[in-house]
Amino acid sequence: MASYVAAIDQGTTSSRCMIFDHSGRVVAVNQKEHRQLFPKAGWVEHDPLEIWDNVRQVCAGALASADLVSSDIAACGITNQRETTVVWDKATGKPVYNAIVWQDTRTDEIVSELGATEGQNRFQSKTGLPLATYFSGPKVKWMLDNVDGIRERAEKGELLFGNMDTWVLWNCTGGPDGGLHVTDPTNASRTLLMDLETLQWDPEICAEIGIPMSMLPEIRSSSEVYGQFRERGVFAGIPIAGILGDQQAATFGQACLSPGEAKNTYGTGNFVLLNTGTERVLSDNGLLTTVGYKIGTNDTVYCLEGSIAVTGSLVQWMRDNLGMIGSAPEIEQVARSVDDNGGAYFVPAFSGLFAPHWRSDARGAIVGLTRYVNRGHLARAVLEATAFQTREVIEAMNADSGVPLKSLKVDGGMVVNELLMQFQADILGVPVIRPVVNETTALGAAYAAGLAVGFWGSEADIRSNWAKDKQWDPSMTDEVREKQYRDWQKAVTKTFDWVE
Ligand SMILES: Nc1ncnc2c1ncn2[C@@H]1O[C@H](COP(=O)(O)OP(=O)(O)OP(=O)(O)O)[C@@H](O)[C@H]1O
Ligand SMILES: [Mg+2]
Repeated sequence: MASYVAAIDQGTTSSRCMIFDHSGRVVAVNQKEHRQLFPKAGWVEHDPLEIWDNVRQVCAGALASADLVSSDIAACGITNQRETTVVWDKATGKPVYNAIVWQDTRTDEIVSELGATEGQNRFQSKTGLPLATYFSGPKVKWMLDNVDGIRERAEKGELLFGNMDTWVLWNCTGGPDGGLHVTDPTNASRTLLMDLETLQWDPEICAEIGIPMSMLPEIRSSSEVYGQFRERGVFAGIPIAGILGDQQAATFGQACLSPGEAKNTYGTGNFVLLNTGTERVLSDNGLLTTVGYKIGTNDTVYCLEGSIAVTGSLVQWMRDNLGMIGSAPEIEQVARSVDDNGGAYFVPAFSGLFAPHWRSDARGAIVGLTRYVNRGHLARAVLEATAFQTREVIEAMNADSGVPLKSLKVDGGMVVNELLMQFQADILGVPVIRPVVNETTALGAAYAAGLAVGFWGSEADIRSNWAKDKQWDPSMTDEVREKQYRDWQKAVTKTFDWVE
């Protein structure tokens, strides 16, 4: 009897394989970072072959570390950094270019041309998204326009497009030798090419952006058996039975399964998702409408999303680019050396600003500097930037939904930072709650796969597996909270109109 379910989490900074038992507890984990390639200011790339190599290694490593074999695993799910774009040759499996990562801003001209006459919300009613550098469609167009000879090959049907879920699935199921070219609606809803209502590619939009539809993967549900791992290699024969974009997977893993439930994941960036049930709520306040999940033939569940590009990666930047801390966790100790931010605010608009502003002309700024400000204040400003940006998207969500959030479930790498969590509760004015299993992204993908093969019976199992670890309650006065937030909002305006 197979007693476990596995998940591959192909993230922005690393690839992970995690194995869970029936109660949703972590049994094994193996993780490997890949290189971040920055060929020019604003450009971010990954090597898809390096990532595929890492995926195989972490799957093997996770199995080995728990002394398990393939037959112990009932199913495997895939979750992934969304929007990151790969185009490859169907016959050889060779990418035609590096993966263009979601944070990359090279498509800003394409995006402003597409919106020139009809505006940034040209495709919003169909796709739920504003025109922005973030999404995959314009990234594919950039490759077709800029990599020699590939538009012709794409039009002949020789090339395939995928986000990382599709790239990993295609390779896991055989690559050039019968690999499945499939995605799920959560990933497809991040391309700017999918109709949110029909969950199909929209031929008109594809034509307007100039993307041959033969490149696009088939859109299946988020939870069903797509196929099996190829016979030679790790996980041979295990069914692959779930695909969810990382943020939707975290929403599922956090058991945000009813309308009105929301979570915030603190990783490379921050992503707040609010379940709006089977209703597609279009935002008037700078949020995205996205598919939350589609389990088999059940109705599609939608979410409102506030995407923040830079949070944890600002901590990494402080470590790697400034050398002001030796490790990410060290930031907490440095921040605790002072009582407040000393008047300094750090707006990390490294990829422009995402929700709720959607300003690709913005760039990062530290404001409020005086001779008084030291390393500790800057460390605080870095952590506070995460909390202030979160407040901006929560305010947008409250305005869109008309129902103020009462508490916030959190997860991801930064939520071990107690100072940040307390400040988050203070600046939001609502409790912040962390679950026992913080690896909700991989867990959500495992749930999607396990539901498809009957390892878990229903969503009720997911709810009963969820347990609270810790809660932070607000302790700041309203006056201080609002003053700091006003200062933050002023700081944000200083980043606008930088790129001409
Ligand atoms: N103690 C800490 N305090 C503040 N930030 C931290 C701490 N520990 C880790 N981080 C930040 O958390 C991030 C890693 O979080 P996590 O592991 O959830 O991201 P990830 O899932 O690897 O991201 P992705 O899925 O995008 O690859 C890093 O950006 C790191 O800087
Ligand atoms: Mg992640």
